[in-house]
Amino acid sequence: MISGGTMDTDYFQHKEIFFASLIYSKKRLHYLENEFIVRDDDVFLVSYPKSGTTWMMEILSLIHTSGDFTWCREVPNFIRIPWLDVSGTGEKLVDECESPRFLASHLPIQCFPKSLFSSKAKIIYTARSPKDVLVSLYHFAYMSYVVKKPNSFDEFMEDFLQGRVPFGSWFDHIKGWMQMKDNKNFLLVTYEDLIEDHRGTIKKICTFLEKELEEQVIDLVVKNSSFNSMKNNNMSNNSLVPDYIIDTKNNHFMRKGITGDWKNHFTQKQMEHMNVIYREKMKDLDVKFSWDECL
Ligand code: A3P
Repeated sequence: MISGGTMDTDYFQHKEIFFASLIYSKKRLHYLENEFIVRDDDVFLVSYPKSGTTWMMEILSLIHTSGDFTWCREVPNFIRIPWLDVSGTGEKLVDECESPRFLASHLPIQCFPKSLFSSKAKIIYTARSPKDVLVSLYHFAYMSYVVKKPNSFDEFMEDFLQGRVPFGSWFDHIKGWMQMKDNKNFLLVTYEDLIEDHRGTIKKICTFLEKELEEQVIDLVVKNSSFNSMKNNNMSNNSLVPDYIIDTKNNHFMRKGITGDWKNHFTQKQMEHMNVIYREKMKDLDVKFSWDECL
């Protein structure tokens, strides 16, 4: 919706989850869940927004080309690894993608194509500390038209904690996907793993994908998926995403690329409030995360 020269962001609800009307549609979501055919050799990069999806797209692209940077330098990431969920032009990219397909998705598990569950497709789920996700999403809201502009950080935090943001509650998203944690075709990777041990995590992904790469090739994957390499590559820093979706003229999608930036944003009270909610919502989940220690 355009009003007074500025764009407003509209959401619709599907299965009680918010989606931005600009690039998502009920029709597409219904089709994906019920009719989309997952192939056995598909690899899905699934994540809650701002968890390191773009980073994982780069790593997967480089693993796929055995470290050859040409594909990443010449083809935008959203064409290399199309977004499953996006309607309109995105649909064509998914349809035209040749096997083996790498597809990105932010869908919660209850909205994902049902055909996944009878397939041998692989899922790489990227998770990130919810405090850093919240901060990253807060900044992203000011540069994108798919997240409503916050009135204040405090209010935005409350919306985030209550799931009144695109793709719903972070807690529900992660708890939903963690139901697959013991499935051999499911790999959990965290943004924090990538920051702590970039190389080791890439090797873990290679093992999961049954892709053997020599050490020198791993070196190339590490080098070319670094924050600075991606920030300087227009095919990977989302600057080619149309301005009506993300305004990268005045802001950088590749913002800070660190862990713990929440400490620069949260007051003591906000931290305590989020810790209480985190403990309550996550108490039944039998998975430990590195960020649990900070709670
Ligand atoms: P920040 O806003 O905290 O900097 P997504 O791709 O899921 O939207 O996630 C975006 C976040 O991942 C941003 O976080 C972005 O800077 C960060 N990111 C992307 N590529 C990265 C890289 N190579 N190294 C570290 N962080 C990266």
